[in-house]
Amino acid sequence: MSVQFFPLTIRDIQRQTDDAIAITFDVAEDLRPVFNYKQGQYLTIRLDVDGVSHRRNYSLCSSPYWDEPLTIAVKKVGDGVVSSWLLHNAKPGDVIEAYPPMGNFTKELRPDQARHYVLFGGGSGITPLYSILKSILRVEPDSVVTLIYANRTRDAVIFRAELEALVNSHPGKLRLVHFVEEGAEGADRQGRMDEDMVAAVLNEWVPVLDTADFFVCGPTPMMDNVINVLHRKGVNDRHIHREYFTLDRNGMNPEMAADNTAATDDIVRRTVRIRLYGSEHSFDVDPDESILMAAQKADLDPPYACQIGACCTCRARLISGKVKMDEREALSDDEIAEGYILTCQSHPLTDDVVADYDQ
Ligand code: FES
Repeated sequence: MSVQFFPLTIRDIQRQTDDAIAITFDVAEDLRPVFNYKQGQYLTIRLDVDGVSHRRNYSLCSSPYWDEPLTIAVKKVGDGVVSSWLLHNAKPGDVIEAYPPMGNFTKELRPDQARHYVLFGGGSGITPLYSILKSILRVEPDSVVTLIYANRTRDAVIFRAELEALVNSHPGKLRLVHFVEEGAEGADRQGRMDEDMVAAVLNEWVPVLDTADFFVCGPTPMMDNVINVLHRKGVNDRHIHREYFTLDRNGMNPEMAADNTAATDDIVRRTVRIRLYGSEHSFDVDPDESILMAAQKADLDPPYACQIGACCTCRARLISGKVKMDEREALSDDEIAEGYILTCQSHPLTDDVVADYDQ
């Protein structure tokens, strides 16, 4: 069945920095199985502000392996309506609607595994990494985690006290390298995380790359710098896990848009069928529309959030036909092989497209 929204009650709000908070939720007993999650996943929340409905994705910073409530972190984003509302208006007892946790920024952990996990985080990119590192420390006692965490200033560091406490309680297992752009106080390194800096950090902290897994989350330029250096050093993409909060197509690595090969002549007005919440619907998709946009125009309400190809909330399985995806970054290779598409990025190329949101 397609994903649907469920109510979560805010239990507590902890201020992290001037512009970031952590929100913990109570999950009703009967919804606990629905809200089981993996480290690194996110919640899509739906919020009405001034009569307008908004959806946003927020990564979970709690760990499913620790006895702690479901928690997201929210950092104010420019004029962001939802982040502003949450920072200034949300309070314990409020009920917020959320889809069950989703996302592929995760890796199966095994107690018998001994890996070096290298986490590159920038700003609020720490959120899923915090969940991931806590999970590794709990599940894989023989693995080591190095967190390389970049911020503009020391005061902008989210989870600073919590991270330092974890370093102290896990000597030799968790190493923390603080990057700060402005002011040297409290920083291990000062400056921007450009490619030279990434290479220097890897040389110093990750001399052996073969047994390492890399998780990267933060501003797109920082992520591209890290990924470019890892590629140059021969790290296989299988070991580079990335989570984009935004997608800047000009800044994307070429291979991320590799399925963007269809001739634009093939993108014409076509009728598609979708399966959604147990029913089948058909509608036309114009050349300048995605399948998701056309479904919304037809008064249907498929699951979605970012609409830029950065999450996988709008995922559906292609039962027949072919589509062109503008972006596929959020889908894993396994999902692609199984026929999943991001409907907010998909344009039908054939007349027999059937996409199933219920699988
Ligand atoms: S809604 Fe996020 S990828 Fe489509």
